[in-house]
Amino acid sequence: MGKSTIITYSATGNSLEVAKLLDGDVVFLNETAEIPEETEILGFVFPTYAFSLPYPVRTFIREKVKARDNSDIKYVYSIITCAGLPGFVKSDLEKELADAGLALSYVKTVKMPDAYLPLKKKAVGEEERDRIFENAKAKVEEYKKEIEDESIALPGRGLLFRLFRKHLDLLFPPGENKGLAVGNECTLCGKCRTLCPTGNIKVEENRVAIGDKCLSCFACYHSCPCGAIKYKGAEGQYKMLDEADLIRRRMGK
Ligand SMILES: Cc1cc2nc3c(=O)[nH]c(=O)nc-3n(C[C@H](O)[C@H](O)[C@H](O)COP(=O)(O)O)c2cc1C
Ligand code: SF4
Ligand code: SF4
Repeated sequence: MGKSTIITYSATGNSLEVAKLLDGDVVFLNETAEIPEETEILGFVFPTYAFSLPYPVRTFIREKVKARDNSDIKYVYSIITCAGLPGFVKSDLEKELADAGLALSYVKTVKMPDAYLPLKKKAVGEEERDRIFENAKAKVEEYKKEIEDESIALPGRGLLFRLFRKHLDLLFPPGENKGLAVGNECTLCGKCRTLCPTGNIKVEENRVAIGDKCLSCFACYHSCPCGAIKYKGAEGQYKMLDEADLIRRRMGK
């Protein structure tokens, strides 16, 4: 087997934990991420955002994958995390990769805990998190074997796809999140700034400022050690599976 690389985007740590269950070098998606030379097996692991690809994953494919000589790559697969409603994400990935000159051979989704707050307003607790992750691990073990055998699993084109897909544009670029606010509990520790995937948080002399490049990933909200980041009507924080590792990788270590 040739060199195996797993391009991984993860805001709240779920997709990173899935990527670590697979064989290959995890390349954490940040501004400087590249597909290493001599990669022959290429994986993409990332979350579903709004039934489709997160903006940073799409941008990486459109800019970096498209510009690269991909002739060494023999097999492309993906495992996409979601909260149970993956929508069009598999076929959108297939299309993005095809536009960049890569043929996707295998794609699966796996249910992981949901850290998105606008719909439920209540963070997933540790017990539920662990239960969902145990089920996910069993699935990923199956997928890992199929990937080792270079199996083929392509997205279907069901009725839902045919009815809705062409009428929807699911590319959500970073924007303002009016529901997020920083309370007086803030100690200016800077953890939210480190974890923000779009560099949208600045720690100023005596306040934290959230800008207008938000993906609504809620990594800042869930990780604040003082509970200082508020989201309208939301309760509790999602304890990430391995926050320390996520921080290390986001810092490029
Ligand atoms: C902005 C946003 C949009 C999401 N949209 C969907 C969705 O359309 N369908 C779904 O099943 N899960 C959705 N989710 C849940 C995530 O896909 C899921 O929690 C994922 O495992 C998070 O991965 P991460 O921890 O690696 O960032 C969304 C989460 C966020 C933050
Ligand atoms: S993580 Fe919380 S306490 Fe630390 S700077 Fe951000 S808002 Fe303030
Ligand atoms: S500001 Fe918070 S919710 Fe928005 S992208 Fe950054 S970490 Fe995610």
